[in-house]
Amino acid sequence: MAIRNIVKEGDPVLTKVCRPVEKFDDKLRTLIDDMLETMDANDGVGLAAPQVGILRRLFVIDVGEGRFEFVNPRIIKTSGMQESSEGCLSCPGEFGITRRPMFVTVEAYSRYGDRFTINAEGLFAKAICHENDHLDGVLFKEHVIRMEKR
Ligand code: NI
Repeated sequence: MAIRNIVKEGDPVLTKVCRPVEKFDDKLRTLIDDMLETMDANDGVGLAAPQVGILRRLFVIDVGEGRFEFVNPRIIKTSGMQESSEGCLSCPGEFGITRRPMFVTVEAYSRYGDRFTINAEGLFAKAICHENDHLDGVLFKEHVIRMEKR
């Protein structure tokens, strides 16, 4: 396992649409382990593959409910609304109030290619939306109602 460099805002890699993961192999599992380690080392609650320079549809999340890995995720349902503070490891020191769904249902694959479905709410739901946006080249600022000073 290794801590990888996090790509910062301004790098064009963060504006690209990522391609699906095709091979559920050891290389993928090493990438996921590295992403988890990189997220933890930076006190993040989520990290998407493009943030470590890999243009594949994959992210990891840990909002305190355990570590979750989402390969080829698809948000299939959203409901409700939350307004809360949000930031991103690719935009250090910047925070803003965003509007996100309160509940999301997401379908994804594990590191071994097994499909699963998760219902998430609150912070977990927000993190899923945030990370999923990264896979389409979208940063949280596009959802910000107002930036915060900290
Ligand atoms: Ni982010």
